[in-house]
Amino acid sequence: MRDAGRTLPRNDPRQYDDLAGEWWRPDGAFAMLHWLARARAAMVPPAARPDALLVDLGCGAGLLAPHLTGKGYRHVGVDLTRSALHQAAAHGVTVVNGDATAVPLVDGCADVVAAGELLEHVPDWRAAVAEACRLLRPGGLLVLDTLNDTALSRLVAVRIAERLPTVPRGIHDPRLFVDARALVAEARRHGVDLRLRGVRPGVGGLLAWLVRRARGVGDGTGGPAPRIVPTWSTAVLYQGRGVRRG
Ligand SMILES: C[S@@+](CC[C@H](N)C(=O)[O-])C[C@H]1O[C@@H](n2cnc3c(N)ncnc32)[C@H](O)[C@@H]1O
Repeated sequence: MRDAGRTLPRNDPRQYDDLAGEWWRPDGAFAMLHWLARARAAMVPPAARPDALLVDLGCGAGLLAPHLTGKGYRHVGVDLTRSALHQAAAHGVTVVNGDATAVPLVDGCADVVAAGELLEHVPDWRAAVAEACRLLRPGGLLVLDTLNDTALSRLVAVRIAERLPTVPRGIHDPRLFVDARALVAEARRHGVDLRLRGVRPGVGGLLAWLVRRARGVGDGTGGPAPRIVPTWSTAVLYQGRGVRRG
């Protein structure tokens, strides 16, 4: 397990600079973000029109990009962290250095807005949701995933996961986790009816990956990456998908 190379408060964005070399290592500190990016992209249909725009809020190093190949979107990524944006640009993302709570893009510009593993890092997540909805054109699609504000989520996503090589230590501040009902209500207020479903890594794939990694088999990529699968409860990790009303 890796942690940031210096002592920083939980959720301090400078951790992403310290971990900049990890983004594109499939077995690195951000491995789970790769699995989640694939699952998020699966919620995005092929573009319905030429020049369709997908705005990726909190895009990080652009891990969503390879999973959008062939879907026909121009991929614009917004993030606070410049070191991540340099890497996103190298993967074909048009990057904007900015805050997801005040995005310098015009109303209704986006066919799709993605907010993957972002909201639980934003002190004012409601403002980020408002921005996501504002950016969507009528009929546009919002896809997101985040961590629920529950005791189980704090146990699993912080206490347990931070002991595994799937989540960097200190990257989350559990006080920022996002209550699922409040998220649905907030999105509705801004014209998007979100449907949520709980997700988790498939147990078999996760165990195989952990074993491969513990044995030091290559870099852990000597087998399939764990799949993110639906689960019955939204109590920990959940995805949301909703269309902007016209
Ligand atoms: C856990 S990473 C997720 C990155 C990417 N969405 C992915 O799934 O690979 C969170 C990202 O959100 C960014 N971030 C945090 N707060 C932000 C804010 N207020 N506005 C824009 N980006 C932010 C961080 O810099 C980081 O790149």
